Amino acid sequence: MDVFLHEIDHHKTEKITPNYYTDEQFAMVLVDLFITGFVPTASCLEFLIMFMILHPEIQKKCHEEIDMVIGRSRFPSINDNEKLPYTQAVCLEVLRHVTFIPMTTRAATKDTQIDDYFIPKGTIAALNLYGMHHDKQTWENPLEFNPDRFLDKDGKLCNQDIMLPFGTGKRTCPAEVFARISTFTYFTYLLQKYSFECPSNSAPPDSTPSVGMGNYAKPYRCVVRDRQLVSSNFIANYKDSRDEDCGTLV
Ligand code: HEM
Repeated sequence: MDVFLHEIDHHKTEKITPNYYTDEQFAMVLVDLFITGFVPTASCLEFLIMFMILHPEIQKKCHEEIDMVIGRSRFPSINDNEKLPYTQAVCLEVLRHVTFIPMTTRAATKDTQIDDYFIPKGTIAALNLYGMHHDKQTWENPLEFNPDRFLDKDGKLCNQDIMLPFGTGKRTCPAEVFARISTFTYFTYLLQKYSFECPSNSAPPDSTPSVGMGNYAKPYRCVVRDRQLVSSNFIANYKDSRDEDCGTLV
């Protein structure tokens, strides 16, 4: 943003033409960033937490891995990624299961022959990412939320290359690396500090995405507990006080 603002000033002073560094362009870049960037990232975190509520046993495994590798006294860092394969597998499974952008489109810029198929110039082609991520020939029980599908028998990550949650080709998501690292680090940080559960008086969250340009989480209610407190004196009163102490996240 600073660089863009600097260029706006520079182009004005030097009267450079054509000038793409205008206030209007800057506003549109910000709109692009919000729609394409922050919305899927926020939705990814909402789904990550939702699946932790729906699968307490998976949340427990993430807590154990994070406690063992990072502990509670320092913040998670991007260097921890490789040491947390189970937590990474959970993030990958959310990217696969939800598929935030289920379909991307392209147009053929010239007449093209691919094997037996002739694709005339101008044809719109849709890439069905959701279909690819739920193909029964590739994924066992594709509708099931199962992070283990991304771990081999030695507990190492696998099967990452057979999905495309960030699209492919020249117009692939330019922020893929940033998005993967930021969602993973936020998620690890949240699990290091908190545990998540469904309020006793609420129905479990509905994990079917809301319909729109992307697959986004429907609002849900959640109890957030401070794990420091839970692990010390708080544990004694935990059960009795659960209704009074609820914090609502969404
Ligand atoms: C979990 C988070 C994210 C997911 C799942 C995601 C996914 C995608 C997908 C599938 C596409 C379409 C790619 C294609 O047409 O082949 C896309 C495009 C794009 N994404 Fe992301 N994205 C995420 C985060 C971000 C972030 C954080 C930013 C920016 C800060 C961003 C910026 C963009 C932009 C600008 C495009 C359009 C690229 C173009 O048309 O050339 N995305 N994203």
